[in-house]
Amino acid sequence: MRVYRPRAGRLVRREEPVPEPRHGEVLVRVRATSLNYRDLLILNGDHFADGGSGLVPVSDAAGEVAAVGEGVTRFAEGDRVINAFHPGWIAGRMPDTLVGYGNGQDGWLAEYRAVSEHALVALPDSLSFEQGATLPCAAVTAWVSLDGVRPGDVVLTLGTGGVSLFAVQLAKARGARVVATTSSAEKAVKLTGLGADTVIDYATTPEWGKAVLDATGGRGADRIVEVGGPGTFAQSLVAAGTHHADIALVGFVGTGGAPVDFMDLFRSGATVRKIWVGSREDTEDLLRWLAVWPIEPVIDSVHPFEQADAAFRHFESRANVGKVVITTE
Ligand SMILES: NC(=O)c1ccc[n+]([C@@H]2O[C@H](COP(=O)([O-])OP(=O)(O)OC[C@H]3O[C@@H](n4cnc5c(N)ncnc54)[C@H](OP(=O)(O)O)[C@@H]3O)[C@@H](O)[C@H]2O)c1
Repeated sequence: MRVYRPRAGRLVRREEPVPEPRHGEVLVRVRATSLNYRDLLILNGDHFADGGSGLVPVSDAAGEVAAVGEGVTRFAEGDRVINAFHPGWIAGRMPDTLVGYGNGQDGWLAEYRAVSEHALVALPDSLSFEQGATLPCAAVTAWVSLDGVRPGDVVLTLGTGGVSLFAVQLAKARGARVVATTSSAEKAVKLTGLGADTVIDYATTPEWGKAVLDATGGRGADRIVEVGGPGTFAQSLVAAGTHHADIALVGFVGTGGAPVDFMDLFRSGATVRKIWVGSREDTEDLLRWLAVWPIEPVIDSVHPFEQADAAFRHFESRANVGKVVITTE
């Protein structure tokens, strides 16, 4: 089978034997994968939990069951599946130790992958393999970040990365009012098309936290999907106002923001909750929701397996709006 492994920050394509599913394992014929910021960090050796040297990259995939090992009861040959982001977190509280795809064990940028049957979730027929491959990390993270959001709540999203676009779509489907930031007029149009009620250009409005207050009659956001980290957190606190907002602490794509002032955090009354994608149960909950409130994952581009390296470079350039998908066709 064809598989990629990293070498010195580049992807190298190799031929390796198709794995045999062991007891309790399912052999997945991978049909599509999608890229996330972490995959780029791992490939470039920049991930904080980097253990990725030589491991097959990419955390997210969709495919079909090619064979099952002894004792498998959850899936049969031909079933359509996606992986759960954390193979070792089924439900409930996050376990203390989790082993990630691409930085603790082989990931999914391969034609076949054998994993425990418990690490997979059924993919409904209403979603294509390309769409399914966009869900395990970005969509589940957005879904968990929005837990408890009620109709009429103001949800603030930052930028047009994978997590944020799903957050816009899912928040609108929950009846929330969405305020979104981005850095270009073209991407603002895309956000409006997805339902964002207010879009603020953070490049031309560095004090965008104040702009969020202005857009919400001085109250601020109820829920903030914080993907910018050091680059955005101080402004997010301004955007939170003083009414005990919830900040879902997701990521760190931003750079160059002001340091966080403790008294600003204190005055806001905000609850800060770190997100770590979600469990298999969260993934299943999301898919159940999508069956009732379908949203179409935003796919920027689909790249053939032979051009996986170009797909990574396109993603790295941030020219994409939506998920970058690689197929095994
Ligand atoms: N904790 C978790 O469970 C979890 C799960 C998934 C992802 N993450 C993390 O969340 C972050 C986002 O992941 P992703 O895969 O969605 O990333 P991504 O697709 O690579 O996001 C890139 C986008 O980030 C936006 N951005 C960059 N700097 C910004 C700033 N200062 N303000 C607002 N937006 C900014 C840009 O949007 P514009 O081009 O519109 O400006 C850019 O297009 C990453 O740090 C990732 O590691 C964490």
